[in-house]
Amino acid sequence: MRLPFRVVQATCHDTDTIVDVVNSDRLYKTVIPSKFYKDPFLTSEELKNYFATMDLTFFLCREGASVLGVGALIGRKDGDGQLGWIFVVPERQREGVGSALVATIERQARARGMPRIILETDGGAYWAISFYQSLGYREYKRTDHLWGYQIWIQKALSPP
Ligand SMILES: CC(C)(COP(=O)(O)OP(=O)(O)OC[C@H]1O[C@@H](n2cnc3c(N)ncnc32)[C@H](O)[C@@H]1OP(=O)(O)O)[C@@H](O)C(=O)NCCC(=O)NCCS
Repeated sequence: MRLPFRVVQATCHDTDTIVDVVNSDRLYKTVIPSKFYKDPFLTSEELKNYFATMDLTFFLCREGASVLGVGALIGRKDGDGQLGWIFVVPERQREGVGSALVATIERQARARGMPRIILETDGGAYWAISFYQSLGYREYKRTDHLWGYQIWIQKALSPP
């Protein structure tokens, strides 16, 4: 029997779990040419460094002792929020885990007075673009990169 899942704020003890969930991804490998694909996508050292240098709050979606997905709110210097590392383990995608993570992050961003949330993803990541569109996010910019383009997506947040 499946337990109800819940989204909780990560602690400093969750670093390896976050890295494992991020590195479980199989989708980006299908659109990023192998010579540009960074494998592993994220290391514990990199994540610790991001925690030390960025305004970063990570969330986990838990089902009992299992972690089904992760995602972060980044506080930007311009006052906006940014979504980072929203990843759901492949075998539990399309069950609402990603939506639950983003809903929690949006609540947190609203409570912090952030007027807007933005994010960037690979222009070929049709699944991610569809996911964010389903949550009310819209494209506002494209920037070139070595094998294609990055797409920038935004959503205005109503005040709390
Ligand atoms: C993108 C991702 C986070 C979505 O998480 P999820 O838990 O599977 O998403 P949800 O179940 O909440 O999906 C909500 C809606 O988003 C859209 N969506 C989600 N995955 C999709 C896919 N693979 N293709 C097309 N639309 C998709 C659908 O409209 C879906 O509603 P539906 O299932 O009722 O049709 C997940 O696919 C993932 O981890 N992908 C790899 C990492 C990644 O791309 N992260 C985004 C980084 S910017």
